[in-house]
Amino acid sequence: MNTAGHSKAITKLLLHLHPNKVDAQSIKFTRTFGLGGIAALLFVMLFISGMLLRFAYVPSVKGAYDSIIELENQVLFGQLLRNLHYWSGMALVLVSFLHVLRVFYTQSIYHERRKNWIYGLLIMFLVVFSNFTGYLLPWDQLSFWAVTIMTNMLSYIPFVGDAIADMVRGGDEVTEITLLRFYHFHTGLLPLLMVFLMSVHFWLVRKSKGVTVQNSDEKVLVPTYPNLVFKEILVALIVIIVLFILSMIINAPLQGKADPLISPNPSKAPWYFMGFQELLLHIHPGFGIFIIPLLVTVFLVYIPFVKYTDLNVGVWFNSNKGKKLTIISVVYALVLTLLVILSSEFFLDLRNWMPQVPLLISTGLLLLLLYLVPAAAFLYFLKSKYNASKIDLMMAMFTIIIVAYVVMTIVGSLFRGEGMHLFA
Ligand code: HEM
Repeated sequence: MNTAGHSKAITKLLLHLHPNKVDAQSIKFTRTFGLGGIAALLFVMLFISGMLLRFAYVPSVKGAYDSIIELENQVLFGQLLRNLHYWSGMALVLVSFLHVLRVFYTQSIYHERRKNWIYGLLIMFLVVFSNFTGYLLPWDQLSFWAVTIMTNMLSYIPFVGDAIADMVRGGDEVTEITLLRFYHFHTGLLPLLMVFLMSVHFWLVRKSKGVTVQNSDEKVLVPTYPNLVFKEILVALIVIIVLFILSMIINAPLQGKADPLISPNPSKAPWYFMGFQELLLHIHPGFGIFIIPLLVTVFLVYIPFVKYTDLNVGVWFNSNKGKKLTIISVVYALVLTLLVILSSEFFLDLRNWMPQVPLLISTGLLLLLLYLVPAAAFLYFLKSKYNASKIDLMMAMFTIIIVAYVVMTIVGSLFRGEGMHLFA
């Protein structure tokens, strides 16, 4: 095939993914930061490295840990392969999260993109669940106790919690049945579901005529190849190089073989669940594991279905005012969350101050109100002082939730030591 033939073949192949011409605005790096594409690339890296890892891994209590040691020490590039899979998995959680922030703050979740927001939320759930099921597989102390903590948390869901926890573990403790269950989820069902949902996700992006761009009078179309494709290749190369360098420098963690009789102190959940673990140190589990996540999920699903009058699709933070209010919200949520964490840790003792009141009220509802009342007052302040519109207020609420979770994740991961005490 001559050069023209080659380029025709490439263009044909790419047409499955992109239209042959794209809006010049949409391929600016700052429009998406390439985050969706990077997530897709990470998924492919995970798929390939995961398939290779399966040749070495033995999914049994007796064999799992030793097979990882053997992979690391006896197999050519075994350690590198494990590291690549580990770092790609962690990066996918982070990049998907940043991608959610990007689509949210550029108002890319409204009108014909609503459906894709819902599919996206499902994908986010699968990304985290895939990472979590993989976490157990090395069967070392870190993974065993992290999964023990997380599955114990599930039991706090009212009425059905124990049943769900038992179903996930295949019994009332983490055993070989759990390991097998997680293995099959991690290497079978979850990747399959993700491929399906991601295909729908990409198809819906195409159906909405690509990523969102600001409304403008003169629309300039440029050929996808080479304009967009070269940029994509460049970003992909950078991501692959960074992953390889990271994997050559920092090994995926591996502690001693899992011992169900000795729990490390502190026992921590994986970092992306540390926000929950931190929350549970303060609030009643019925609220921490069930009511709050339920409220947040309903809120996230509901956002694109509200009617807004001043929606500027494709504009970062909707307007300059929106940007300013978002920054104020970040600062407010940061201070409020830290204040509530510190006062609950060192000062508030609602359980003993009101022993006659049911715990669900004293350490649950009251503590939640302690956060929600100042948050509501803040929204009122934004409305009266800055004349915030509905979309501004939605962004402020979303920002408060995100900042609260990030702060709890950082506090739980970095500032808690023995006995999960702060600054220990
Ligand atoms: C493995 C995870 C994911 C992959 C591979 C992925 C991939 C992509 C790609 C390639 C695009 C188009 C380019 C871009 O916007 O960067 C996109 C757009 C989009 N994604 Fe995702 N995504 C993932 C997760 C999510 C999640 C978790 C959400 C939301 C909860 C989401 C919501 C959206 C929406 C609403 C759009 C349309 C944005 C627009 O039209 O500007 N995605 N995604």
